[in-house]
Amino acid sequence: MELTTRPLNPPPKSTCLVTGGAGYIGGHTVLALLDAGHEVIVLDDLSTGFRWSVPNTAKLIIGDVGDFDLVCRVIRTNGITSILHFAAKTVVPDSVRDPLGYYLANAVKTQTLLAATISEKVGNFIFSSSAAIYGNSESFVSEAQKADPQSPYGRSKYMAECMIEDTGAAHQMRYAILRYFNVAGADPKGRMGQSTKNATHLIKVAIETALGKRPCMEIFGNDYPTPDGFAVRDYIHVADLADAHVLALSRLQRGTGSFTVNCGYGRGYSVKEVVDIVKALTGIDFKVRLAPRRAGDLASVVANSDQLRSFGWRPRFDELSTMVRHAYQWEMELASKRH
Ligand code: UFG
Repeated sequence: MELTTRPLNPPPKSTCLVTGGAGYIGGHTVLALLDAGHEVIVLDDLSTGFRWSVPNTAKLIIGDVGDFDLVCRVIRTNGITSILHFAAKTVVPDSVRDPLGYYLANAVKTQTLLAATISEKVGNFIFSSSAAIYGNSESFVSEAQKADPQSPYGRSKYMAECMIEDTGAAHQMRYAILRYFNVAGADPKGRMGQSTKNATHLIKVAIETALGKRPCMEIFGNDYPTPDGFAVRDYIHVADLADAHVLALSRLQRGTGSFTVNCGYGRGYSVKEVVDIVKALTGIDFKVRLAPRRAGDLASVVANSDQLRSFGWRPRFDELSTMVRHAYQWEMELASKRH
């Protein structure tokens, strides 16, 4: 029998504003919210998201989350009761090259969104944070570990976390901060997947290489202090992560109080192990080149996921091979989309 994270006595439905809902993680969460019966209004500037990825059952407003007047108007006219904030810049090495762009998108605009949230008295705020707020760790990272972000991206997310916590303490706003580990995979029903152009994420890059969309891929560094020398990450299926958001929303609605939670499985794979699984599943021995370490990368990032599990989260797709299979199916589907 398939276990789900849906509560037995579902809380009242929410009218959700999902910023960045035309993107990868926001988009999967839109599907999960709709599946759970919530109403969804997406606010997205389509800078990296896609119009086609927003289902007809959600409303799409094209605009900037940093536009205070627009956000207030959207909240008022749609009767928004919960905000899920995904809109962000998300690529660690990019943030090293363009720190100010990252601070604007991820910190400054979150401040504006929070101001609108308080001004319009929205009670629930859910935030996409990241394992990038942690520094290097020898073991499983728990939420109690001190923040020590190593990149402008991580610092921009941590700044946003601080603003959210302080705002929650000062105003009638409950919040859930979800710290994502490495998100991968695609909707098991094939409705969406990672569609970003020029993607830098390992699993997507490996699959694109297997499909001949890239002539070769690089592995960044083999001299990390890990068992095989390759960097280790905790890969989480995007559909399980989307479920975690629905669960977080139901907790906030039930009045359980604000919380910050890791979203990972608590199991790490090295870059080489991931590449080997992609090769085995696709049956294609694509070309891989060893390259120097990438700026901003950590040796090992693996979650302690006890807290999320204690909330009743039951992952459904926690096999790396399932993540790779779904991502591979989506990559083939993507060829038929105009994007
Ligand atoms: N990698 C390669 N070759 C590639 C791409 C990636 O060797 O072509 C390596 C990276 O060096 C790293 C690992 O694969 O060691 C994972 O890299 P990703 O780019 O897939 O992901 P990151 O760990 O850099 O970052 C991701 C998200 C962040 C999030 C972080 C949390 O992009 O938003 O996971 O761990 F903060």
